[in-house]
Amino acid sequence: MKQDLIVILDLGSTQNTVIAREIRDLGVYSEIHPHDITAEELKAFDNVKGIILNGGENRVVDGQSVEIREEIYELGIPMLSIDYPQSKCQEQLNELPKEETLKKFIFETCGAEANWNMKNFIEDQVELIRQQVGDRKVLLALSGGVDSSVVAAMLIKAIGQQLVCVHVNHGLMRKNESESVIKVFRDELHANLVYVDAVERFLGKLENVADPEQKRKIIGGEFIRVFEEEARKLEGIDFLGQGTIYPDIIESGTKTAKMVKSHHNVGGLPEDLKFELVEPLKQLFKDEVRACGVELGLPHDMVYRQPFPGPGLGVRCLGAITRDRLEAVRESDAILREEFAKAGLDKKVWQYFTVVPDFKSVGMKNNARVFEYMVIIRAINTIDAMTASVEKVDWDVLETITNRILSEVENVNRVCYDMSPKPPATIEFE
Ligand code: XMP
Repeated sequence: MKQDLIVILDLGSTQNTVIAREIRDLGVYSEIHPHDITAEELKAFDNVKGIILNGGENRVVDGQSVEIREEIYELGIPMLSIDYPQSKCQEQLNELPKEETLKKFIFETCGAEANWNMKNFIEDQVELIRQQVGDRKVLLALSGGVDSSVVAAMLIKAIGQQLVCVHVNHGLMRKNESESVIKVFRDELHANLVYVDAVERFLGKLENVADPEQKRKIIGGEFIRVFEEEARKLEGIDFLGQGTIYPDIIESGTKTAKMVKSHHNVGGLPEDLKFELVEPLKQLFKDEVRACGVELGLPHDMVYRQPFPGPGLGVRCLGAITRDRLEAVRESDAILREEFAKAGLDKKVWQYFTVVPDFKSVGMKNNARVFEYMVIIRAINTIDAMTASVEKVDWDVLETITNRILSEVENVNRVCYDMSPKPPATIEFE
């Protein structure tokens, strides 16, 4: 089913994604396109029911005053202008009643049907994937993160065993994370899953490397090499599945909205490994990706997990990674997550984790002097990860977590709470 489309033309407003979201929430599919799109390109969509011009009072993109192409007005598609009094559009939307005007435009003027929902979206994508892939094979790097998990579930539904998932365990995963990927995808969804235990390989490469940027480069570079080696072992693969999502596409710039930024860890595969991309989530916002995952039957924990950096616990085991401190990060992180869930904070706090610095402090255990590591707890809230504030965690919850870490995690004698907002601190420590 080709769903009705409302196109938002970007004339420099920061509100474009908000409006696109509002329209999708009304059950109508909406996309943002650059202001200089041609009438031909718009006609080619074949399902545009209405056009919204959104540029505020000034219509400025990258410091330049902009207009849409005159020919767009001749298409005969209903047009609405937002916050721009001199507009040539039939309809105008200024502050309030904003939602009513938007609804009236979409349903009455454009006659759009509210047929955008996850069930229809999945049906459409399954059909499109089958058309694109035919009887050939798709390779997917399945990290267990939200996007790659939802892509995997979608591809399994569409092409089953023609999907080959590769899960690389780099030793920097959280507690039970790789196990859960295997359980969900191999045992429950019967995916064709290649599990690569690369723990020793990664930790070996990272030995004595203390510089954060160097660590990130090693982890990213090694990931590509491992994935490439696995890809070369497999025969007859033509496609690469990717968890590109809509913000990746719009963030790449308003004028070049179609240019996808290099994404995930597999963006840098060598030239001779030529794959065509399959990107079934590229129209979805993050929360829609989660809703899609739920509709596809993935477990709640997997779909609603908090953001986790690509280099994993590697950037939370500060300085040169050692196995004892890496275990301390992993175990303390698991305790923190368990206790936050018990206190209902997992649904409230945006991101929370522990880090272990590479120095020791003096303490007492069983009446003897000890010289051990410290665990730092960080819990923050943010909207876009550009700035962040610290969660005021209840003292009793912090005490419970501290007591558990001190009694259950080896080599740790001290627990601290990080009170620093971003800026000046970043969310991660490295
Ligand atoms: P910072 O530390 O820059 O983090 O304030 C902002 C957000 O980005 C996450 N982060 C990463 N995510 N790969 C990722 O996919 C990475 O290399 C990476 N580094 C940081 C971080 O967890 C926070 O949510």
